[in-house]
Amino acid sequence: MKRVGILTGREQTFPESIIRSINERGNGETVAEMVKVGGIRLDEPKRYDIIIDRISHEVPYYRAMLKRMALDGTLVVNNPFWWSADDKFFNFSLAAKIGIAIPKTVLLPQQDYIPDITSESLRNLEFPIDWEGICEYVGFPAFLKPFDGGGWKNVSKIWSLEELWHVYNQTGTLCMTLQEGIEFDQFVRCYCVGQERVLVMPYDPSQPYLSGMQYVNVENYLSSELYERVERDVITICKALGYNLNTVEFAIKDGVPYAIDFMNPAPDAELASVGEYNHNWIVNAMTDFVFKKLEEDFEAPEYRWTAMLNPAEKAPKPIVTVKAKTPKAGTVKTAKKTAEKKPKSKPANAE
Ligand SMILES: Nc1ncnc2c1ncn2[C@@H]1O[C@H](COP(=O)(O)OP(=O)(O)OP(=O)(O)O)[C@@H](O)[C@H]1O
Ligand SMILES: [Mg+2]
Repeated sequence: MKRVGILTGREQTFPESIIRSINERGNGETVAEMVKVGGIRLDEPKRYDIIIDRISHEVPYYRAMLKRMALDGTLVVNNPFWWSADDKFFNFSLAAKIGIAIPKTVLLPQQDYIPDITSESLRNLEFPIDWEGICEYVGFPAFLKPFDGGGWKNVSKIWSLEELWHVYNQTGTLCMTLQEGIEFDQFVRCYCVGQERVLVMPYDPSQPYLSGMQYVNVENYLSSELYERVERDVITICKALGYNLNTVEFAIKDGVPYAIDFMNPAPDAELASVGEYNHNWIVNAMTDFVFKKLEEDFEAPEYRWTAMLNPAEKAPKPIVTVKAKTPKAGTVKTAKKTAEKKPKSKPANAE
């Protein structure tokens, strides 16, 4: 029997729906349930084949537990090693390098530090910061936002240098970025599952957060050209970051989709917030993903750091063919190894 565990915070409907959906399809051979854990021992036996993690970014104990479980071959969505290492500024920089439109962004030194850090500890920092230069590069309006965050916490729209100082002075020990504000014509938020399936959702950020009014239902919201680019960009980003569940947000201006937020490894999927259609889509897509992974019979990663970051899919056995030609005298006999061609991944389809 295969076991799938759900690790969750306060959300209600997504865990319930995904557990129900997996159990219905699992026919008793695959069982989904809420993860239950206490003290984790060094020799803890493997409990789950897959865990869908919705909350370890808020609970360090869960994050440590998930890393431990990954050692025994539990596939964790999303990879706890990479999620721990990742941050939004790295993501912006990486995405820009691989051809995604990204608003101009600057990583800022923190405004404050933990008590034991004194000015002596910070001799590597330029002082004063070249605020004028930074603002000239980014322009106004700009967004001051954490380099690692979510839930619209500590995100501010800034219109002037004075306002920037005022808000920055309240950011304390948070590491912040200043980003060019895109005065968008359109805005979309996109689910991406398994780095291949994409749902593009028209989104109205002017509505209150989690109000259920942000996800708007507009048919043919994007032109087909723009739709294709958004879909392609979402897959490019999620493949580069290795996330199997993510949302990517685009602010679209003059036909250019600027990716402004794409480190959402536990994206909102609550019925009341995202609406019935989007909720059902994500539940189905995640159920498909879980069964696909279980069928693939993925291998436990090797006990090496790099393998933890890039868990290998079960490699197809190489076919070894020996060249029929008789080798010339004095030449070394060679065997040509041809790896079996990996089946092409399913084309991304928007649903
Ligand atoms: N560069 C930008 N240009 C235009 N709008 C922006 C920009 N950055 C952020 N915003 C606005 O602020 C909102 C919150 O910003 P962001 O998504 O970066 O924060 P977050 O805390 O990660 O949000 P979430 O919890 O939705 O993922 C965005 O949905 C968008 O409306
Ligand atoms: Mg966001």
